[in-house]
Amino acid sequence: MKILAIETSCDETAISIIKTYEKSNSSTPKFIILSNQLFSQAKIHAQYGGVFPMVAKREHCKIIMPLLKLALTEAKMFTKRKKPITLGADEKMYKKIFKKEPELFEQFSALIKNTKKPKIDAIAVTKGPGLEPALWVGINFAKALSLVWNIPLLPINHMEGHIVASLLKSKDKSMSYAKAWDQNVKCKTIKFPAVALLISGGHTELVLIKNWFAYKILGKTRDDAVGEAYDKVARMLGLPYPGGPQISRLAETIPDKSSRFPLPRPMFNSDNFDFSFSGLKTAVLYTIKKIPRLTPKMKAEIANEFENAIVEVLLKKTLLATQKHKARTIILGGGVSANKRLRKYFQNMAKENNIELLLPNPALSTDNALMIAIAAYCRVIKPNKKTELTTTKQKTSLSAHGTLTLERLLN
Ligand code: KG4
Ligand code: ZN
Repeated sequence: MKILAIETSCDETAISIIKTYEKSNSSTPKFIILSNQLFSQAKIHAQYGGVFPMVAKREHCKIIMPLLKLALTEAKMFTKRKKPITLGADEKMYKKIFKKEPELFEQFSALIKNTKKPKIDAIAVTKGPGLEPALWVGINFAKALSLVWNIPLLPINHMEGHIVASLLKSKDKSMSYAKAWDQNVKCKTIKFPAVALLISGGHTELVLIKNWFAYKILGKTRDDAVGEAYDKVARMLGLPYPGGPQISRLAETIPDKSSRFPLPRPMFNSDNFDFSFSGLKTAVLYTIKKIPRLTPKMKAEIANEFENAIVEVLLKKTLLATQKHKARTIILGGGVSANKRLRKYFQNMAKENNIELLLPNPALSTDNALMIAIAAYCRVIKPNKKTELTTTKQKTSLSAHGTLTLERLLN
């Protein structure tokens, strides 16, 4: 089975194609990566200091078709027609699908007229959560392709993608996107129950996973997501977007834990699994305001203390959740899980407590389409009542789409 996956939930346009092992009835996914393409808009958003949804939408619209062609070419599935065909009576329907992305309709119709249907068996697309205008580009694109090629459509939850990204075995510790894993992939297994800490630009959630797709949200942020806090604090320190890697780099230059600028550890002692990072962000702001001349050394010290505060809170709450629910595995996912210090602390904690730790390759921590393809594959080989493969012609399962949260997806 070949799955084409599309991800446009934030500022990364990504398309991946995987080929699963046909007769694999094993419980762990096995597949070959035929293509894994990604275009990051980070540089475009950096000038605004954060992601603007309408700018993200515009850029997705620009790049998604060239990226699809690139992915199909890489997967050896891009074949030109000798004679162009027409969309015929269905043209109106496709125009309607691309009502909000008219420029994409032109590119879509050119592709369909001039190229042959690729040998794809299912199209997976991120249905949320994410930025609505950005999500719709991927969803409408996937929907139109699914209809025109008559291929089933699998709407996938973005956070589930971040969970399964940790299943991929990394070939080495290389950060290089293209070479970080074998093309021929056998995934790690999950020993249930597991606790997943999902930390991204939009989410901070502790999720109990009792079995495949059996999720319970144990706690989440009451205000800012941890990645959002990183990005906002970076801006305060005059660092470009995305702030996480920038702060992390600065923090690494400060070797010890002591700080001239102590910051709070919000909700560190609360007896629940919720988080709060807005107060920490404000504390950074007040700290900066009190300093007449902020030197590069001071910036690094603040970054270091901020990172320590974040890591300590995340570590403590995750360990508590793990102990309470007797979890055998901890899973990290989302952009912030690329953070080196966080990974080191979690590795030590897991070792000390004899818990399995599943970490995504840093290159797969941030948004990508491979994780959406893997999630789709897991849904196919481990089907439950909530997800079935249906063609869009049978059922337009995305018509009631909104910004879905993990809870809404699963209920
Ligand atoms: O998962 P992701 O790529 O997009 C969302 O779904 O939101 O996460 C992006 C977030 C950004 O806030 C970015 O600053 C943060 O992940 N991030 C990091 C690191 N790399 C990315 N935060 C801390 N340390 C990093 N190394
Ligand atoms: Zn994400």
